[in-house]
Amino acid sequence: MKAMRLDKYLTKAEGMSRSEAKQILKKGRVTLDGERVTRPETKIDAETAKICVDGRPCVYEEYTYLMFYKPKGLITATEDAREKTVTDWIGEDARGLFPVGRLDKDTEGLLLLTNDGAMAHELLAPGRHVDKRYYAVLDGAVGEKEQKQFAQGLDIGEKRPTMPAVLEPALDGSEKYAVYITIKEGKYHQIKRMAKAVGRKVLYLKRVSMGSLTLAPELSPGQYRPLTEKELAGLIRLTRLERS
Ligand code: URA
Repeated sequence: MKAMRLDKYLTKAEGMSRSEAKQILKKGRVTLDGERVTRPETKIDAETAKICVDGRPCVYEEYTYLMFYKPKGLITATEDAREKTVTDWIGEDARGLFPVGRLDKDTEGLLLLTNDGAMAHELLAPGRHVDKRYYAVLDGAVGEKEQKQFAQGLDIGEKRPTMPAVLEPALDGSEKYAVYITIKEGKYHQIKRMAKAVGRKVLYLKRVSMGSLTLAPELSPGQYRPLTEKELAGLIRLTRLERS
């Protein structure tokens, strides 16, 4: 038995906000075991209830989603004989979870861990082009010329140039040569290789966002927490949107 309010169920299963859930309930678009329901506070058993929206069955599965501020020094894997992994660091709370995408050992920042394979697939699929944004400190200045090169795509030694990427100065910190870089792919060492292609070296790298998910300011390196309802709804919406 997994007792839950109907509006909460709809946010989880359909990736809508609570107010959207309330609206579709009010409009009579939702049925519970074949009967129309309109009250958001209706208690249901999420494991057995048959909920439909506009006659289409909803699928609800309980997954875990953790936002982790990966510190430097951990490798992005679930197991490694020699090195400490992100799941070793988190311990019991990461049991059965896997990281969505990879950050280098010396890269910090946002890492999503989940057991939701379908979502991971949608976020990582090369054809989906989910934005990944990084804060990088470089070893020297970059300007309009490099911005254009990033926007045009760079030769990093692959068959094809990289997809257009955004390079912006980071004016919010004290570092002189800090930039934000947004890429749509996730090739091995991609940011470092793109920087190298314009004659620069990355001295510090931190991922700040992935799609709609942004590294929470209250987290310090090494800390983690479950995604909020809103964050999860954003990812569900993003992956659904890009699926269609
Ligand atoms: N690009 C890199 O070079 N390293 C990372 O960890 C992520 C993106």
